[in-house]
Amino acid sequence: MDYSLKDKNIILGVCGGIAAYKSVELLRLLKKGQANVRVIMTRNALHFVGPLTFEALSGTAVCTSLFTANDPAAIRHIDWAAAADAVVVAPATANIIGKIAGGLADDALSTFLLAVTCPVILCPSMNTHMYENKAMQRNLQRLKADGLLVLAPESGQLACGTTGPGRLPEPEVILDRVVSCLSPQDLKGKNILVTAGPTREPVDPVRFMSNPSSGKMGYAVARAAQHRGARTTLIAGPVSLADPPHVNLIRVNTAREMASAVFDNMDRAHVIIKAAAVSDYRAKEIAAHKIKKENDEIVLSFQKNQDILKEVGRRKKHQILVGFAAETQALEANAVKKMTEKNLDMIVGNLVGSPDSGFHSDTNTVAFFFKDGSREALDPMEKDTIAHILLDRIVEKFLK
Ligand code: CTP
Repeated sequence: MDYSLKDKNIILGVCGGIAAYKSVELLRLLKKGQANVRVIMTRNALHFVGPLTFEALSGTAVCTSLFTANDPAAIRHIDWAAAADAVVVAPATANIIGKIAGGLADDALSTFLLAVTCPVILCPSMNTHMYENKAMQRNLQRLKADGLLVLAPESGQLACGTTGPGRLPEPEVILDRVVSCLSPQDLKGKNILVTAGPTREPVDPVRFMSNPSSGKMGYAVARAAQHRGARTTLIAGPVSLADPPHVNLIRVNTAREMASAVFDNMDRAHVIIKAAAVSDYRAKEIAAHKIKKENDEIVLSFQKNQDILKEVGRRKKHQILVGFAAETQALEANAVKKMTEKNLDMIVGNLVGSPDSGFHSDTNTVAFFFKDGSREALDPMEKDTIAHILLDRIVEKFLK
């Protein structure tokens, strides 16, 4: 199943607020995900950003009025409303929130919002006192009760000089909410624990042993699980990826730190997915000071780290346990052996080492092996898509 934004019809409503400039970036991100985006701007929004910017980025005319001369699509609010998969209003001003809470339709955006039946995400953004005003809060409660989704503003220093809630969340955070509302909520009520990235084993205060894992696969799984409604905990080694919104992120460095974070969190997990590339060895002794280049040759001694996955496999009770196997040869034999030895329900085998597969790549070529003996090889594809197919299989095989 495809849960991406590709070919989805998204309507972006833009109101008159300082944060309207952020909707330009949101539009760019939606288009990057290959969504069809149409923009409706209120009259006041035109004071902040010109429609041409939205028009150029969306590739379609921006709707600014119900009554545009020479436009055959006179009832376009009805056409667009019927075809929309999701609507996002960002920034949503006090005015539009008040109007839709009261069921008013006096311009293109408010009329359109009355006509849609798909999910609507409102992103309020305004001065803190306006946001905290009783009428405003009453309107937001009313709209939530009516089934609209409200993405709470962030706190911070606002353009008007006050400090407090009212700032429009970053475009990536809004995008994340749009993706969740388009995803099936088949993991609602489930706790999913994911590990990602490498671990670092220090050798002296300025050096460590590690591997090139980027964490992209584990992060993709955590994001997908969260989008599908799971309460998601992500235990991540050192990576340079953006924190996934609404995921409980626990950062660790060494394999031993990762092990204790996993053991602390495994009891309440329904599903554990171990995508991390854990260092198999750690330095026997960590030098107290930087090792100087006095000798032509040095010998370091390493000792084995605990196999976290194997220990989870030994301790597990109700949990569905999924491992990864990074191999450079004999994928099936090695992966199946690890599945049996570590008491897993499923293992994702991937051949590492080619540019379009494995560590730093955005794509990967994997095969799934299940404990019932079945297997499935996937074509090379984006890690985000693999993450969703992996969750599809977990739901079908183990959670139904
Ligand atoms: N793993 C782990 N703890 C370790 C080593 C690996 O939890 N100390 C987990 C990984 O997160 C992964 C799985 O075990 O889910 C397989 O990791 P991989 O590196 O492919 O294999 P290893 O078990 O380390 O065996 P080898 O290095 O000999 O291939």
